[in-house]
Amino acid sequence: MEIPRRRKPLLLSAISLLLLAWPASCADPVLLPVSKDTVTSLYTIPVRDGANHVIDLAGPLLWSTCAADHLPAKISCQDPACKFANAYRAPSCSIAAQPCTSKTQCTAYPYNPVTGRCAAASLVHTRLVANTTDGRNPLSQVSVRAVAACAPKKLLPRLPAGAAGVAGLADAGLALPAQVAASQRVANRFLLCLQRRGEGVAVFGGAPLFLLPESAVGDLTATLAFTALRRRRDNPLYYIPVNGVAVNQARVPLPASALATGGVVLCTRVLYTALRQDVYRPVVQAFDRALARNDANVPAVAPFELCYRSSMLGNTRLGYAVPDIALVLEDGNSWTFVGSSTMVDVNGQTACLALVEMKGVKAGDPAAAAVVVGGFQMENHLLQFDLEKQQLGFAKVPFFTACSNFNFTKTQ
Ligand SMILES: *[C@@H]1O[C@H](CO)[C@@H](O)[C@H](O)[C@H]1NC(C)=O
Ligand SMILES: *[C@@H]1O[C@H](CO)[C@@H](O)[C@H](O)[C@H]1NC(C)=O
Repeated sequence: MEIPRRRKPLLLSAISLLLLAWPASCADPVLLPVSKDTVTSLYTIPVRDGANHVIDLAGPLLWSTCAADHLPAKISCQDPACKFANAYRAPSCSIAAQPCTSKTQCTAYPYNPVTGRCAAASLVHTRLVANTTDGRNPLSQVSVRAVAACAPKKLLPRLPAGAAGVAGLADAGLALPAQVAASQRVANRFLLCLQRRGEGVAVFGGAPLFLLPESAVGDLTATLAFTALRRRRDNPLYYIPVNGVAVNQARVPLPASALATGGVVLCTRVLYTALRQDVYRPVVQAFDRALARNDANVPAVAPFELCYRSSMLGNTRLGYAVPDIALVLEDGNSWTFVGSSTMVDVNGQTACLALVEMKGVKAGDPAAAAVVVGGFQMENHLLQFDLEKQQLGFAKVPFFTACSNFNFTKTQ
C-alpha cells in the first residue's frame, strides 16, 4: 500500500484499512449519554457493551480492561494503527517499547489520567454499540467498528467504580472522535454538553442539538461562538488562544505573556478550573474587589479561597449575582462564565469561587499550562470540538433548559 504523505489522508486510510468491511453507509451522528460519577467527579460514557468509560479530552486512545470479545482480533505492530496508537505517550510513562518484527503484535501504552500510571496493552479490534441521532432523539442502534487497547486491571484504580477504561477524546487517530468519523463516515467533530448532576449528552459527527423544551430553544449549535483549537508541543491537548481574563468586562492586569506561556487547555479530568499562581492571584483579587462584599466573607473552605455566606449573595436565574469572569479570546470573542459556573455551594451556608490555584507549579513555569479549564466550568455549556476546522464552538445553555434535557426516547 502506498502511504499518502499528509496526516489526515494517512489517518483515514489507516483506519479504513482496519475496517475489513464498512458498515452500511450511515451518515447519522452517534449519540452517547454522559454521566458524572458522584465520587470522583469524572464524566463517563457507556461504550463497549454499555460499560462506562471515563472521557478524557487529553486522551489519545480508547482503552478497556480485556473482555472476551476482543481477544481474537489482535493487530500487528506493523499495522498503521499501531503507529497511531503510539503517536503520544504520557510523559509519566517510561515502559521501554518492544522492538517490532513481522510476528510482533502491537503494544500500546494506555494511561490512567487520574494516577498517570501506564501499562503495556495489546491493540485489538472491537465494536461499540450506540444509537445514531438526528440531534433530537435516538434513531437506531449501530455497531461502530473501532480499535481499542486491551489494558490490565491494574490500570483502573481511582477511576469510578464499575468503569472499564477510558475513552480518549483528543485530536488523535485512535481517539474516539476520529474512529467514529472514519467508521460511520461522519464529520470528525463532536458536541459535549456536561451536566452537573444527572445525565448530559455527547454527539459524534456533525449534528444539530435540541434540548427540551424544543420549541423554546431550537438548534443550540446555532448559538455557538467560535475560537481556534490549537495544538502545542508534542501532546494531544486542546489549547484555546486566550489573551486576557476579564472580570465584569474589565481586563485583569496580568504579567505580560502570562497566558501565552503555558497556554490555556481544556481538561475534563479536573473538576475546578486551575490557574497558575501568577494568573490565579490577580483574578481572585479582581473578583473579590468587583463583588465588593466584604460583609459576606467567611473563612476559606479548601481547596477554595474566596468564600461567602450564601444567604447574603443575591440569586438570579444565572446563579449567584456575582461578577462574570471571561476568557478574552485572541479572535475577538469572549467565553463568559456567570454565577452558576463560577460559584460552588460547599455547604448549606457557604458558596465559594470555584477556581483553584495550581499546586507544585512556580509562577511562569513554562512546563505548566497557565489555565486548565475544568469540567465544572464546562458544565451547562455546549461545546463543539471541530477537529477538521480546528475550531471550538462554545455557548452557555439557556437557563430554561439544561444538558440533561436531551430527549433520550427513541422516535417511533
Ligand atoms: C438506544 O436508545 C434506546 C431508546 O432510548 C435505549 O433504550 C437504548 O439503551 C439505546 N442503546 C444504546 C446502545 O445506547
Ligand atoms: C421525546 O421524544 C418522543 C419521540 O419522538 C416524543 O414522543 C416525546 O413527546 C418527546 N418528549 C417530550 C417531553 O417532548
